[in-house]
Amino acid sequence: MTHLVLTGFMGTGKTSVGREVARRMGRHFVDMDAEIEARAGKSIPRIFAEDGEGAFRQMEAELCEELSEGLPQRPLGFQKTPRVSPLVIATGGGALVDPANRARMMDSGTIICLTCDADEILLRVNGSNDADRPLLDVADPRAEIERLLATRQPAYRAIPWQVDTTALTVDQVAARVIEIAGTITLPVRHPGGEYPIHVGEGTLAHVGGALRAAGAPEGTSVAVVSNPVVVPLYGTRVTDTLTLAGLQPFACSIPDGERYKTLATVETLYDQFLSRGLDRSGTVLALGGGVTGDVAGFAAATFMRGVRFAQVPTTLLAMVDASVGGKTGVDLPQGKNLAGAFKQPALVVVDPSTLDTLPVEEIRSGMAEVIKHSIIGDPALFAELETNSPQSPISNFQSLISSSRLARALRVKTDVVEQDPFEGGRRAVLNLGHTVGHALERLSRFTLRHGEAVAIGTVAAVHIAVEVRRAAPALAHRVADVLTAWGLPVRCPDFKAGAIWEAMAHDKKHRGRCLRWVLPHAIGQVEIVEDVPRDVVISVLGNMGAS
Ligand SMILES: NC(=O)c1ccc[n+]([C@@H]2O[C@H](COP(=O)([O-])OP(=O)(O)OC[C@H]3O[C@@H](n4cnc5c(N)ncnc54)[C@H](O)[C@@H]3O)[C@@H](O)[C@H]2O)c1
Repeated sequence: MTHLVLTGFMGTGKTSVGREVARRMGRHFVDMDAEIEARAGKSIPRIFAEDGEGAFRQMEAELCEELSEGLPQRPLGFQKTPRVSPLVIATGGGALVDPANRARMMDSGTIICLTCDADEILLRVNGSNDADRPLLDVADPRAEIERLLATRQPAYRAIPWQVDTTALTVDQVAARVIEIAGTITLPVRHPGGEYPIHVGEGTLAHVGGALRAAGAPEGTSVAVVSNPVVVPLYGTRVTDTLTLAGLQPFACSIPDGERYKTLATVETLYDQFLSRGLDRSGTVLALGGGVTGDVAGFAAATFMRGVRFAQVPTTLLAMVDASVGGKTGVDLPQGKNLAGAFKQPALVVVDPSTLDTLPVEEIRSGMAEVIKHSIIGDPALFAELETNSPQSPISNFQSLISSSRLARALRVKTDVVEQDPFEGGRRAVLNLGHTVGHALERLSRFTLRHGEAVAIGTVAAVHIAVEVRRAAPALAHRVADVLTAWGLPVRCPDFKAGAIWEAMAHDKKHRGRCLRWVLPHAIGQVEIVEDVPRDVVISVLGNMGAS
Protein backbone atom coordinates (compact mmCIF):
# COMPACT_ATOMS: atom_id res chain seq x y z
CA MET A 1 0.00 0.00 0.00
CA THR A 2 1.51 3.37 -0.91
CA HIS A 3 -0.81 5.91 0.63
CA LEU A 4 0.21 9.52 0.89
CA VAL A 5 -0.47 10.61 4.46
CA LEU A 6 -0.58 14.23 5.61
CA THR A 7 -0.26 14.88 9.28
CA GLY A 8 0.60 17.82 11.53
CA PHE A 9 -0.92 20.17 14.06
CA MET A 10 -4.42 21.62 13.69
CA GLY A 11 -4.54 24.55 11.28
CA THR A 12 -1.57 23.46 9.20
CA GLY A 13 -3.82 22.79 6.21
CA LYS A 14 -3.96 18.98 6.15
CA THR A 15 -7.53 18.82 4.86
CA SER A 16 -7.42 21.56 2.23
CA VAL A 17 -3.97 20.51 1.00
CA GLY A 18 -4.96 16.82 1.07
CA ARG A 19 -8.05 17.49 -1.00
CA GLU A 20 -6.01 19.47 -3.57
CA VAL A 21 -3.23 16.85 -3.70
CA ALA A 22 -5.79 14.07 -4.19
CA ARG A 23 -7.40 16.04 -7.02
CA ARG A 24 -4.07 16.59 -8.77
CA MET A 25 -2.95 12.98 -8.32
CA GLY A 26 -6.33 11.52 -9.27
CA ARG A 27 -6.66 9.68 -5.96
CA HIS A 28 -9.41 9.36 -3.41
CA PHE A 29 -9.11 11.53 -0.33
CA VAL A 30 -9.83 10.40 3.23
CA ASP A 31 -10.12 12.97 5.99
CA MET A 32 -9.82 10.85 9.13
CA ASP A 33 -11.69 13.32 11.37
CA ALA A 34 -14.59 13.49 8.91
CA GLU A 35 -14.61 9.69 8.63
CA ILE A 36 -14.75 9.30 12.41
CA GLU A 37 -17.58 11.82 12.63
CA ALA A 38 -19.48 9.93 9.91
CA ARG A 39 -19.03 6.62 11.72
CA ALA A 40 -19.92 7.99 15.16
CA GLY A 41 -22.84 9.96 13.79
CA LYS A 42 -21.76 13.00 15.74
CA SER A 43 -19.21 15.79 15.64
CA ILE A 44 -15.77 15.55 17.25
CA PRO A 45 -16.65 18.13 19.96
CA ARG A 46 -19.63 15.93 20.84
CA ILE A 47 -17.48 12.77 20.91
CA PHE A 48 -15.10 14.58 23.27
CA ALA A 49 -17.95 15.87 25.44
CA GLU A 50 -20.03 12.70 25.58
CA ASP A 51 -17.49 9.86 25.27
CA GLY A 52 -14.19 11.51 26.29
CA GLU A 53 -10.88 12.02 24.47
CA GLY A 54 -9.87 8.39 25.15
CA ALA A 55 -12.80 7.09 23.09
CA PHE A 56 -11.88 9.42 20.24
CA ARG A 57 -8.21 8.26 20.28
CA GLN A 58 -9.40 4.63 20.20
CA MET A 59 -11.47 5.36 17.09
CA GLU A 60 -8.42 7.03 15.51
CA ALA A 61 -6.23 4.01 16.26
CA GLU A 62 -8.78 1.63 14.71
CA LEU A 63 -9.07 3.75 11.60
CA CYS A 64 -5.26 3.96 11.25
CA GLU A 65 -5.10 0.20 11.38
CA GLU A 66 -7.80 -0.24 8.77
CA LEU A 67 -6.32 2.31 6.41
CA SER A 68 -2.79 0.95 6.72
CA GLU A 69 -4.00 -2.55 5.96
CA GLY A 70 -5.95 -1.24 2.99
CA LEU A 71 -8.94 -3.32 4.04
CA PRO A 72 -11.37 -1.23 6.06
CA GLN A 73 -13.50 -3.44 8.30
CA ARG A 74 -16.36 -1.02 7.95
CA PRO A 75 -17.20 0.92 4.82
CA LEU A 76 -15.53 4.27 4.62
CA GLY A 77 -17.56 7.38 3.81
CA PHE A 78 -16.62 7.10 0.13
CA GLN A 79 -18.01 3.62 -0.29
CA LYS A 80 -17.18 3.17 -3.96
CA THR A 81 -13.42 3.42 -3.46
CA PRO A 82 -11.54 0.31 -4.55
CA ARG A 83 -9.98 -0.88 -1.31
CA VAL A 84 -6.52 -1.49 -2.71
CA SER A 85 -5.95 1.82 -4.46
CA PRO A 86 -3.48 4.23 -2.84
CA LEU A 87 -5.21 7.08 -1.05
CA VAL A 88 -4.39 10.57 0.09
CA ILE A 89 -5.13 10.63 3.82
CA ALA A 90 -5.30 13.62 6.17
CA THR A 91 -4.95 12.49 9.78
CA GLY A 92 -6.27 14.27 12.82
CA GLY A 93 -3.66 16.53 14.45
CA GLY A 94 -2.95 14.09 17.28
CA ALA A 95 -3.51 10.82 15.43
CA LEU A 96 0.13 9.98 14.81
CA VAL A 97 1.40 11.06 18.23
CA ASP A 98 0.80 7.44 19.23
CA PRO A 99 3.95 5.57 18.05
CA ALA A 100 1.91 2.50 17.05
CA ASN A 101 -0.35 4.58 14.78
CA ARG A 102 2.71 6.32 13.35
CA ALA A 103 4.51 3.05 12.64
CA ARG A 104 1.40 1.64 10.91
CA MET A 105 1.00 4.67 8.70
CA MET A 106 4.74 4.82 7.92
CA ASP A 107 4.52 1.23 6.69
CA SER A 108 1.55 2.11 4.51
CA GLY A 109 3.29 4.77 2.41
CA THR A 110 4.78 8.24 2.61
CA ILE A 111 3.94 10.46 5.58
CA ILE A 112 4.45 14.20 5.33
CA CYS A 113 4.17 16.46 8.35
CA LEU A 114 2.82 19.95 7.68
CA THR A 115 4.11 22.56 10.12
CA CYS A 116 3.21 26.19 10.82
CA ASP A 117 4.14 28.80 13.39
CA ALA A 118 1.87 29.32 16.40
CA ASP A 119 0.62 32.83 15.48
CA GLU A 120 -0.41 31.72 12.01
CA ILE A 121 -2.13 28.63 13.48
CA LEU A 122 -4.09 30.89 15.82
CA LEU A 123 -5.15 33.06 12.89
CA ARG A 124 -6.13 30.04 10.85
CA VAL A 125 -8.23 28.32 13.49
CA ASN A 126 -9.87 31.64 14.18
CA GLY A 127 -9.21 31.78 17.89
CA SER A 128 -10.83 29.76 20.62
CA ASN A 129 -14.35 30.40 19.30
CA ASP A 130 -13.95 27.64 16.72
CA ALA A 131 -16.46 25.10 17.95
CA ASP A 132 -14.76 22.27 15.99
CA ARG A 133 -11.57 22.54 18.02
CA PRO A 134 -12.36 21.16 21.45
CA LEU A 135 -8.71 21.18 22.46
CA LEU A 136 -8.66 24.98 22.09
CA ASP A 137 -11.77 25.54 24.15
CA VAL A 138 -9.68 27.12 26.92
CA ALA A 139 -9.04 30.59 28.35
CA ASP A 140 -5.74 31.20 26.53
CA PRO A 141 -5.75 29.38 23.18
CA ARG A 142 -2.35 30.85 22.14
CA ALA A 143 -0.68 29.35 25.21
CA GLU A 144 -2.55 26.09 24.65
CA ILE A 145 -1.28 25.91 21.06
CA GLU A 146 2.31 26.40 22.31
CA ARG A 147 1.85 23.74 24.97
CA LEU A 148 0.32 21.19 22.63
CA LEU A 149 2.93 21.90 19.94
CA ALA A 150 5.73 21.32 22.46
CA THR A 151 4.18 18.01 23.59
CA ARG A 152 3.65 16.74 20.07
CA GLN A 153 6.96 17.99 18.66
CA PRO A 154 8.90 14.73 19.26
CA ALA A 155 6.24 12.78 17.36
CA TYR A 156 6.11 15.24 14.48
CA ARG A 157 9.91 15.37 14.33
CA ALA A 158 10.10 11.60 13.86
CA ILE A 159 8.58 12.06 10.40
CA PRO A 160 11.23 12.52 7.69
CA TRP A 161 9.26 14.80 5.41
CA GLN A 162 8.23 18.22 6.75
CA VAL A 163 6.72 21.15 4.88
CA ASP A 164 6.52 24.52 6.63
CA THR A 165 3.22 25.98 5.43
CA THR A 166 3.40 29.29 7.34
CA ALA A 167 3.95 31.54 4.33
CA LEU A 168 2.63 29.26 1.60
CA THR A 169 -0.70 28.99 -0.22
CA VAL A 170 -2.59 25.71 -0.46
CA ASP A 171 -1.44 25.38 -4.09
CA GLN A 172 2.19 25.87 -3.12
CA VAL A 173 2.02 23.34 -0.31
CA ALA A 174 0.25 20.86 -2.61
CA ALA A 175 3.06 21.23 -5.17
CA ARG A 176 5.70 20.48 -2.51
CA VAL A 177 3.76 17.53 -1.21
CA ILE A 178 3.52 16.05 -4.71
CA GLU A 179 7.25 16.58 -5.19
CA ILE A 180 7.95 14.65 -1.97
CA ALA A 181 5.47 11.94 -2.96
CA GLY A 182 7.70 11.23 -5.96
CA THR A 183 10.60 10.35 -3.66
CA ILE A 184 11.80 6.77 -3.86
CA THR A 185 13.13 5.32 -0.62
CA LEU A 186 15.47 2.34 -0.76
CA PRO A 187 16.14 0.69 2.60
CA VAL A 188 19.67 -0.74 2.86
CA ARG A 189 20.38 -3.47 5.43
CA HIS A 190 23.85 -3.96 6.88
CA PRO A 191 25.25 -5.94 9.84
CA GLY A 192 24.67 -3.02 12.23
CA GLY A 193 21.13 -2.14 11.12
CA GLU A 194 19.49 -0.37 8.23
CA TYR A 195 19.51 3.05 6.60
CA PRO A 196 17.32 4.74 4.00
CA ILE A 197 18.41 6.19 0.68
CA HIS A 198 15.88 8.84 -0.36
CA VAL A 199 15.99 9.62 -4.09
CA GLY A 200 13.88 12.48 -5.40
CA GLU A 201 13.78 15.95 -6.91
CA GLY A 202 13.77 18.58 -4.17
CA THR A 203 14.87 16.22 -1.38
CA LEU A 204 17.77 18.56 -0.55
CA ALA A 205 15.25 20.81 1.18
CA HIS A 206 14.24 17.93 3.48
CA VAL A 207 17.61 16.71 4.67
CA GLY A 208 16.97 18.08 8.18
CA GLY A 209 13.72 16.18 8.76
CA ALA A 210 15.19 13.05 7.21
CA LEU A 211 18.23 13.23 9.49
CA ARG A 212 16.06 13.67 12.59
CA ALA A 213 14.02 10.67 11.52
CA ALA A 214 17.28 8.77 10.97
CA GLY A 215 18.22 9.27 14.61
CA ALA A 216 19.88 12.67 15.08
CA PRO A 217 18.52 14.04 18.38
CA GLU A 218 17.10 17.58 18.59
CA GLY A 219 19.70 20.24 19.36
CA THR A 220 22.70 18.13 18.32
CA SER A 221 25.48 19.42 16.08
CA VAL A 222 25.90 18.59 12.42
CA ALA A 223 29.29 19.17 10.79
CA VAL A 224 28.47 19.89 7.14
CA VAL A 225 31.62 18.91 5.25
CA SER A 226 31.87 20.38 1.78
CA ASN A 227 34.22 22.26 -0.54
CA PRO A 228 34.38 25.77 -2.05
CA VAL A 229 32.72 24.60 -5.30
CA VAL A 230 29.67 22.98 -3.71
CA VAL A 231 29.07 25.25 -0.70
CA PRO A 232 28.00 28.32 -2.74
CA LEU A 233 25.61 26.12 -4.74
CA TYR A 234 23.90 24.08 -2.03
CA GLY A 235 25.38 24.96 1.38
CA THR A 236 22.64 27.35 2.49
CA ARG A 237 19.80 25.04 1.47
CA VAL A 238 21.28 22.26 3.54
CA THR A 239 22.05 24.36 6.62
CA ASP A 240 18.55 25.92 6.44
CA THR A 241 16.78 22.56 6.47
CA LEU A 242 19.00 21.31 9.30
CA THR A 243 18.26 24.40 11.38
CA LEU A 244 14.54 24.15 10.66
CA ALA A 245 14.63 20.57 11.93
CA GLY A 246 16.06 21.73 15.26
CA LEU A 247 19.67 20.70 14.57
CA GLN A 248 22.78 22.85 14.92
CA PRO A 249 24.72 22.82 11.66
CA PHE A 250 28.18 24.28 11.20
CA ALA A 251 30.25 24.40 8.03
CA CYS A 252 33.54 22.49 7.65
CA SER A 253 35.57 23.13 4.53
CA ILE A 254 37.98 20.88 2.66
CA PRO A 255 39.82 21.83 -0.53
CA ASP A 256 38.40 20.62 -3.85
CA GLY A 257 40.03 17.74 -5.70
CA GLU A 258 41.30 14.17 -5.47
CA ARG A 259 44.78 15.39 -4.50
CA TYR A 260 43.31 16.55 -1.20
CA LYS A 261 41.85 13.14 -0.40
CA THR A 262 44.56 12.70 2.21
CA LEU A 263 45.12 12.06 5.89
CA ALA A 264 46.24 15.70 6.20
CA THR A 265 42.76 16.83 5.08
CA VAL A 266 41.13 14.46 7.57
CA GLU A 267 43.26 16.04 10.28
CA THR A 268 42.00 19.51 9.35
CA LEU A 269 38.48 18.13 9.76
CA TYR A 270 39.26 16.83 13.27
CA ASP A 271 40.45 20.36 14.13
CA GLN A 272 37.24 21.89 12.81
CA PHE A 273 35.08 19.33 14.64
CA LEU A 274 36.89 19.96 17.92
CA SER A 275 36.85 23.73 17.65
CA ARG A 276 33.05 23.62 17.16
CA GLY A 277 32.49 21.16 19.99
CA LEU A 278 31.24 18.20 17.92
CA ASP A 279 30.71 15.30 20.30
CA ARG A 280 29.52 11.73 20.04
CA SER A 281 25.88 12.79 19.80
CA GLY A 282 26.68 14.77 16.65
CA THR A 283 26.62 13.96 12.95
CA VAL A 284 29.09 14.42 10.12
CA LEU A 285 27.26 15.18 6.88
CA ALA A 286 29.08 14.99 3.54
CA LEU A 287 27.75 17.41 0.93
CA GLY A 288 29.51 16.94 -2.42
CA GLY A 289 31.10 14.37 -4.69
CA GLY A 290 32.86 11.12 -3.95
CA VAL A 291 35.99 12.82 -2.64
CA THR A 292 34.01 14.72 -0.01
CA GLY A 293 32.06 11.58 0.93
CA ASP A 294 35.20 9.44 1.27
CA VAL A 295 37.10 12.01 3.37
CA ALA A 296 34.13 13.03 5.55
CA GLY A 297 33.15 9.37 6.00
CA PHE A 298 36.63 8.42 7.13
CA ALA A 299 36.65 11.37 9.55
CA ALA A 300 33.19 10.28 10.86
CA ALA A 301 34.42 6.68 11.26
CA THR A 302 37.43 7.69 13.31
CA PHE A 303 36.54 10.90 15.19
CA MET A 304 35.89 9.92 18.81
CA ARG A 305 35.83 6.29 17.54
CA GLY A 306 32.90 7.04 15.32
CA VAL A 307 30.02 9.50 15.06
CA ARG A 308 26.80 9.41 13.01
CA PHE A 309 27.38 9.92 9.28
CA ALA A 310 25.06 11.15 6.52
CA GLN A 311 25.68 11.48 2.81
CA VAL A 312 24.22 14.10 0.47
CA PRO A 313 25.96 13.27 -2.81
CA THR A 314 25.96 15.92 -5.54
CA THR A 315 27.82 14.18 -8.38
CA LEU A 316 26.35 11.36 -10.43
CA LEU A 317 29.21 9.07 -9.47
CA ALA A 318 28.69 9.74 -5.77
CA MET A 319 24.91 9.30 -6.12
CA VAL A 320 24.98 5.85 -7.71
CA ASP A 321 28.21 4.52 -6.29
CA ALA A 322 30.41 6.25 -3.69
CA SER A 323 27.69 7.28 -1.22
CA VAL A 324 26.41 3.77 -0.54
CA GLY A 325 28.09 0.65 0.71
CA GLY A 326 30.04 2.09 3.62
CA LYS A 327 33.52 2.28 2.10
CA THR A 328 35.34 5.46 3.14
CA GLY A 329 38.98 6.40 3.00
CA VAL A 330 41.86 8.45 1.69
CA ASP A 331 44.74 8.06 -0.74
CA LEU A 332 48.35 7.50 0.34
CA PRO A 333 51.40 8.54 -1.70
CA GLN A 334 51.70 4.84 -2.68
CA GLY A 335 48.21 4.59 -4.15
CA LYS A 336 44.52 5.41 -4.13
CA ASN A 337 42.19 4.48 -1.26
CA LEU A 338 44.92 2.66 0.66
CA ALA A 339 43.78 3.84 4.12
CA GLY A 340 40.14 3.68 5.10
CA ALA A 341 37.33 2.22 7.12
CA PHE A 342 33.88 0.76 6.67
CA LYS A 343 31.41 3.33 7.95
CA GLN A 344 27.75 2.86 7.14
CA PRO A 345 25.79 6.07 6.77
CA ALA A 346 22.64 6.65 8.81
CA LEU A 347 21.07 8.39 5.82
CA VAL A 348 21.68 9.07 2.13
CA VAL A 349 19.71 11.79 0.33
CA VAL A 350 19.99 11.92 -3.46
CA ASP A 351 18.50 15.01 -5.12
CA PRO A 352 18.92 14.73 -8.91
CA SER A 353 18.29 18.46 -9.31
CA THR A 354 21.82 19.08 -7.98
CA LEU A 355 23.09 17.55 -11.23
CA ASP A 356 21.91 20.71 -13.03
CA THR A 357 25.12 22.46 -12.02
CA LEU A 358 27.46 19.51 -12.55
CA PRO A 359 29.78 19.90 -15.56
CA VAL A 360 28.76 17.63 -18.41
CA GLU A 361 32.11 15.76 -18.32
CA GLU A 362 31.36 14.77 -14.73
CA ILE A 363 27.87 13.60 -15.69
CA ARG A 364 29.27 11.56 -18.52
CA SER A 365 31.87 10.05 -16.22
CA GLY A 366 29.16 9.11 -13.69
CA MET A 367 27.10 7.55 -16.49
CA ALA A 368 29.84 4.94 -16.88
CA GLU A 369 28.93 3.69 -13.38
CA VAL A 370 25.20 3.75 -14.16
CA ILE A 371 25.79 1.70 -17.31
CA LYS A 372 28.17 -0.57 -15.37
CA HIS A 373 25.46 -1.24 -12.77
CA SER A 374 22.91 -2.00 -15.48
CA ILE A 375 25.32 -4.55 -17.02
CA ILE A 376 25.87 -6.16 -13.62
CA GLY A 377 22.27 -6.46 -12.57
CA ASP A 378 19.51 -4.62 -14.44
CA PRO A 379 19.01 -5.69 -18.08
CA ALA A 380 15.84 -3.57 -18.36
CA LEU A 381 17.74 -0.46 -17.32
CA PHE A 382 20.47 -1.32 -19.84
CA ALA A 383 17.84 -1.62 -22.58
CA GLU A 384 16.39 1.75 -21.58
CA LEU A 385 19.81 3.36 -21.72
CA GLU A 386 20.30 1.87 -25.18
CA THR A 387 17.11 3.42 -26.51
CA ASN A 388 17.11 6.69 -24.55
CA SER A 389 20.62 8.02 -24.99
CA PRO A 390 21.23 11.78 -25.33
CA GLN A 391 20.63 13.37 -28.72
CA SER A 392 24.15 14.74 -28.75
CA PRO A 393 27.03 13.89 -26.44
CA ILE A 394 26.98 17.26 -24.71
CA SER A 395 23.30 17.97 -24.37
CA ASN A 396 20.20 16.94 -22.42
CA PHE A 397 22.01 14.58 -20.07
CA GLN A 398 20.32 15.83 -16.93
CA SER A 399 16.80 15.39 -18.30
CA LEU A 400 17.56 11.73 -19.03
CA ILE A 401 18.74 11.00 -15.50
CA SER A 402 15.48 10.60 -13.63
CA SER A 403 15.01 9.63 -9.99
CA SER A 404 13.74 6.23 -11.04
CA ARG A 405 16.81 5.48 -13.19
CA LEU A 406 19.08 6.61 -10.37
CA ALA A 407 17.18 4.43 -7.94
CA ARG A 408 17.45 1.41 -10.23
CA ALA A 409 21.20 1.87 -10.69
CA LEU A 410 21.47 2.27 -6.91
CA ARG A 411 19.42 -0.85 -6.29
CA VAL A 412 22.02 -2.95 -8.16
CA LYS A 413 24.71 -1.67 -5.80
CA THR A 414 22.61 -1.98 -2.63
CA ASP A 415 21.64 -5.57 -3.52
CA VAL A 416 25.29 -6.50 -3.89
CA VAL A 417 26.56 -4.71 -0.77
CA GLU A 418 23.75 -6.17 1.33
CA GLN A 419 24.99 -9.64 0.38
CA ASP A 420 28.64 -8.76 0.99
CA PRO A 421 28.98 -5.75 3.32
CA PHE A 422 32.73 -6.12 3.93
CA GLU A 423 33.85 -6.92 0.40
CA GLY A 424 34.64 -10.54 1.13
CA GLY A 425 33.52 -11.96 -2.20
CA ARG A 426 30.51 -11.12 -4.37
CA ARG A 427 31.02 -7.37 -3.99
CA ALA A 428 33.99 -7.60 -6.35
CA VAL A 429 31.47 -7.70 -9.25
CA LEU A 430 31.09 -3.96 -8.73
CA ASN A 431 34.66 -3.66 -10.03
CA LEU A 432 33.55 -4.44 -13.57
CA GLY A 433 35.81 -2.36 -15.83
CA HIS A 434 38.10 -1.38 -12.97
CA THR A 435 40.97 -3.83 -13.56
CA VAL A 436 41.99 -2.14 -16.80
CA GLY A 437 40.35 1.14 -15.72
CA HIS A 438 42.59 1.74 -12.68
CA ALA A 439 45.69 0.98 -14.75
CA LEU A 440 44.65 3.46 -17.44
CA GLU A 441 43.90 6.14 -14.84
CA ARG A 442 47.36 5.71 -13.36
CA LEU A 443 49.16 5.63 -16.71
CA SER A 444 47.34 8.79 -17.84
CA ARG A 445 48.42 10.42 -14.56
CA PHE A 446 44.71 10.82 -13.82
CA THR A 447 44.04 13.02 -16.87
CA LEU A 448 41.65 10.29 -17.95
CA ARG A 449 38.53 10.60 -15.80
CA HIS A 450 37.55 7.64 -13.64
CA GLY A 451 34.35 7.03 -15.64
CA GLU A 452 36.18 7.22 -18.96
CA ALA A 453 38.73 4.70 -17.74
CA VAL A 454 35.96 2.42 -16.42
CA ALA A 455 34.15 2.64 -19.78
CA ILE A 456 37.25 1.49 -21.66
CA GLY A 457 37.91 -1.14 -18.99
CA THR A 458 34.34 -2.46 -19.32
CA VAL A 459 34.71 -2.85 -23.07
CA ALA A 460 38.04 -4.65 -22.48
CA ALA A 461 36.33 -6.98 -19.98
CA VAL A 462 33.61 -7.93 -22.49
CA HIS A 463 36.18 -8.53 -25.25
CA ILE A 464 38.15 -10.75 -22.87
CA ALA A 465 34.93 -12.62 -22.03
CA VAL A 466 34.40 -13.16 -25.77
CA GLU A 467 38.03 -14.33 -26.22
CA VAL A 468 37.75 -16.89 -23.43
CA ARG A 469 34.40 -18.01 -24.86
CA ARG A 470 32.26 -16.86 -21.99
CA ALA A 471 30.28 -14.30 -24.02
CA ALA A 472 28.98 -13.89 -27.55
CA PRO A 473 30.67 -11.25 -29.79
CA ALA A 474 27.35 -9.38 -30.10
CA LEU A 475 27.58 -8.51 -26.39
CA ALA A 476 30.79 -6.55 -26.96
CA HIS A 477 29.06 -4.50 -29.67
CA ARG A 478 26.04 -3.74 -27.48
CA VAL A 479 28.18 -2.60 -24.57
CA ALA A 480 30.46 -0.45 -26.73
CA ASP A 481 27.47 1.07 -28.52
CA VAL A 482 25.66 2.13 -25.37
CA LEU A 483 28.84 3.63 -23.86
CA THR A 484 29.51 5.53 -27.09
CA ALA A 485 25.92 6.78 -27.20
CA TRP A 486 26.43 8.29 -23.74
CA GLY A 487 29.60 10.06 -24.89
CA LEU A 488 32.10 7.67 -23.28
CA PRO A 489 35.33 6.41 -24.88
CA VAL A 490 35.60 2.74 -25.85
CA ARG A 491 39.06 2.71 -27.45
CA CYS A 492 42.28 2.44 -25.48
CA PRO A 493 44.60 5.47 -25.38
CA ASP A 494 47.89 4.87 -27.15
CA PHE A 495 49.73 3.26 -24.24
CA LYS A 496 51.81 0.14 -24.65
CA ALA A 497 49.67 -2.94 -23.88
CA GLY A 498 52.59 -4.32 -21.85
CA ALA A 499 52.69 -1.14 -19.77
CA ILE A 500 48.96 -1.46 -19.03
CA TRP A 501 49.57 -5.06 -17.89
CA GLU A 502 52.44 -3.89 -15.67
CA ALA A 503 50.27 -1.14 -14.16
CA MET A 504 47.60 -3.74 -13.36
CA ALA A 505 50.22 -5.97 -11.74
CA HIS A 506 51.44 -2.99 -9.67
CA ASP A 507 47.90 -2.32 -8.48
CA LYS A 508 47.51 -5.99 -7.58
CA LYS A 509 50.79 -5.99 -5.59
CA HIS A 510 49.71 -2.97 -3.54
CA ARG A 511 46.38 -4.53 -2.73
CA GLY A 512 47.88 -7.90 -1.90
CA ARG A 513 45.61 -9.92 -4.13
CA CYS A 514 45.68 -11.61 -7.48
CA LEU A 515 44.57 -9.99 -10.70
CA ARG A 516 40.81 -10.33 -10.75
CA TRP A 517 38.54 -9.91 -13.73
CA VAL A 518 34.84 -9.31 -13.73
CA LEU A 519 33.61 -10.79 -16.99
CA PRO A 520 30.06 -10.33 -18.32
CA HIS A 521 28.42 -13.37 -19.92
CA ALA A 522 25.27 -11.48 -20.77
CA ILE A 523 23.60 -8.28 -19.63
CA GLY A 524 22.71 -8.96 -15.99
CA GLN A 525 25.20 -11.83 -15.60
CA VAL A 526 28.80 -11.34 -14.55
CA GLU A 527 31.37 -13.64 -12.97
CA ILE A 528 34.67 -13.14 -11.19
CA VAL A 529 37.63 -14.82 -12.88
CA GLU A 530 41.26 -14.92 -11.77
CA ASP A 531 43.03 -16.86 -14.48
CA VAL A 532 42.93 -14.77 -17.65
CA PRO A 533 46.21 -15.39 -19.53
CA ARG A 534 48.46 -12.38 -20.16
CA ASP A 535 48.51 -12.95 -23.95
CA VAL A 536 44.69 -12.78 -24.13
CA VAL A 537 44.69 -9.44 -22.30
CA ILE A 538 47.55 -8.04 -24.40
CA SER A 539 45.81 -9.09 -27.61
CA VAL A 540 42.48 -7.52 -26.56
CA LEU A 541 44.17 -4.26 -25.53
CA GLY A 542 46.07 -4.23 -28.83
CA ASN A 543 42.81 -4.63 -30.78
CA MET A 544 41.33 -1.75 -28.79
CA GLY A 545 44.10 0.71 -29.77
CA ALA A 546 46.99 0.04 -27.37
CA SER A 547 50.35 -0.30 -29.11
N1 LIG B 1 33.57 4.95 -1.33
C1 LIG B 1 33.25 4.34 -2.43
O1 LIG B 1 32.61 3.29 -2.42
C2 LIG B 1 33.64 4.95 -3.74
C3 LIG B 1 33.12 4.43 -4.93
C4 LIG B 1 33.47 5.07 -6.12
C5 LIG B 1 34.31 6.17 -6.11
N2 LIG B 1 34.80 6.64 -4.93
C6 LIG B 1 35.69 7.80 -4.90
O2 LIG B 1 34.97 8.94 -5.38
C7 LIG B 1 35.90 9.89 -5.85
C8 LIG B 1 35.40 10.48 -7.14
O3 LIG B 1 34.17 11.11 -6.89
P1 LIG B 1 33.56 12.23 -7.88
O4 LIG B 1 33.64 11.74 -9.26
O5 LIG B 1 32.25 12.62 -7.32
O6 LIG B 1 34.63 13.40 -7.79
P2 LIG B 1 34.70 14.74 -6.92
O7 LIG B 1 34.20 14.53 -5.57
O8 LIG B 1 36.08 15.25 -7.06
O9 LIG B 1 33.70 15.73 -7.68
C9 LIG B 1 33.99 16.14 -9.00
C10 LIG B 1 33.95 17.67 -9.12
O10 LIG B 1 32.60 18.13 -9.14
C11 LIG B 1 32.41 19.16 -8.17
N3 LIG B 1 31.01 19.08 -7.81
C12 LIG B 1 30.41 18.20 -6.97
N4 LIG B 1 29.08 18.35 -7.02
C13 LIG B 1 28.82 19.36 -7.87
C14 LIG B 1 27.63 19.95 -8.35
N5 LIG B 1 26.42 19.48 -8.02
N6 LIG B 1 27.73 20.97 -9.23
C15 LIG B 1 28.95 21.41 -9.64
N7 LIG B 1 30.11 20.86 -9.26
C16 LIG B 1 30.04 19.84 -8.38
C17 LIG B 1 33.41 18.81 -7.11
O11 LIG B 1 33.69 19.90 -6.30
C18 LIG B 1 34.60 18.38 -7.97
O12 LIG B 1 35.28 19.52 -8.46
C19 LIG B 1 37.23 9.18 -5.98
O13 LIG B 1 38.08 9.60 -4.96
C20 LIG B 1 36.87 7.71 -5.81
O14 LIG B 1 37.93 6.98 -5.23
C21 LIG B 1 34.47 6.06 -3.76
